[in-house]
Amino acid sequence: MYFYRKPPELKTFGLENMVMMYVVPRRAASLPKSYLHLAQGYTSIVATAGLRCSSPLVARKRFISSTPQAQTKEFFPPPNAPHIKEVETAWAHPVYTEEQMRHVTVAHRETKDWADWVALGTVRLLRWGMDLVTGYRHPPPGKEHEAKFQMTEQKWLTRFVFLESVAGVPGMVGGMLRHLRSLRRMKRDNGWIETLLEEAYNERMHLLTFLKLAEPGWFMRFMVLGAQGVFFNGFFISYLMSPRICHRFVGYLEEEAVITYTRAIQDIEKGKLPKWTNLEAPGIAVRYWKMPEDQRTMKDLLMYVRADEAKHREVNHTLGNLNQAADPNPYSVKYKDSIKSHPGKGIANLKATGWEREEVI
Ligand SMILES: [Fe+2]
Ligand SMILES: [Fe+2]
Repeated sequence: MYFYRKPPELKTFGLENMVMMYVVPRRAASLPKSYLHLAQGYTSIVATAGLRCSSPLVARKRFISSTPQAQTKEFFPPPNAPHIKEVETAWAHPVYTEEQMRHVTVAHRETKDWADWVALGTVRLLRWGMDLVTGYRHPPPGKEHEAKFQMTEQKWLTRFVFLESVAGVPGMVGGMLRHLRSLRRMKRDNGWIETLLEEAYNERMHLLTFLKLAEPGWFMRFMVLGAQGVFFNGFFISYLMSPRICHRFVGYLEEEAVITYTRAIQDIEKGKLPKWTNLEAPGIAVRYWKMPEDQRTMKDLLMYVRADEAKHREVNHTLGNLNQAADPNPYSVKYKDSIKSHPGKGIANLKATGWEREEVI
């Protein structure tokens, strides 16, 4: 049995999307934990991945958790300060149109030298390890998933949460190292730092969005901790040695991210993910991407995320082409020639750099 309760401490913030109502199982605190999961209306929990979903997926209405208030884990609760209306960001997200997002395609940049091969080979190795651990396999082009690799909503969320927790690392490492280099050498950075930090911020917003749909269990937390420990240090050392290869590596990694989200979108379109058909995107996503009212479904959300990944793909492949020490960041400069197509923010000119070759998956 459920009753509804408004969280009193959130009333003053005007963040209607942050939390609408809790659904709290009566006497839930005295019930075994496994019952709490069942009470949320889910048929299964991805035990191996350690994710449990926190949204009951009620059409057009979202509740943050059916876990009793004492056990509710808010990953990014609003500040407990009555005089604060909201926390603002310096990085307002560019607005994407539906048309632009529909034109995002899976693409691949051909390798041109040994450095590219190192980057691509590392991505493929990581990808193979990740697929092995999470029991995932891309079907061959034009084919369907084998039955045992069929993806569900929970499996996709597991993959998204893990990938996004790792994806937020490179931009922060690159931005940090370029910042320190600028201080150390007392030289200008030429606009790279902000773009890299913004990318890390953007990836973290992806993660926070997906965490509104599923709470990671201990296994997932452990995996993220381990992955971050290894990946952060590995990327840190690699970036010191060759930032160019690192940007190429991220470019190839983002190619994979676009494939992943494209497949999830296709699954929604084919009706394979019924729990997501009418599920509304979390409020944090609506505000971040400035999603129009008629464009707030899970499919729309994944279209926004995929567009971001395509932008990271373009940015990092472009940065990987440049002289790391001397060239200004083409994404943060103003050009004298405003008629020619130049790299810029947003996805309107994704093809401006002309590196990609579209692929069919
Ligand atoms: Fe991402
Ligand atoms: Fe990305």
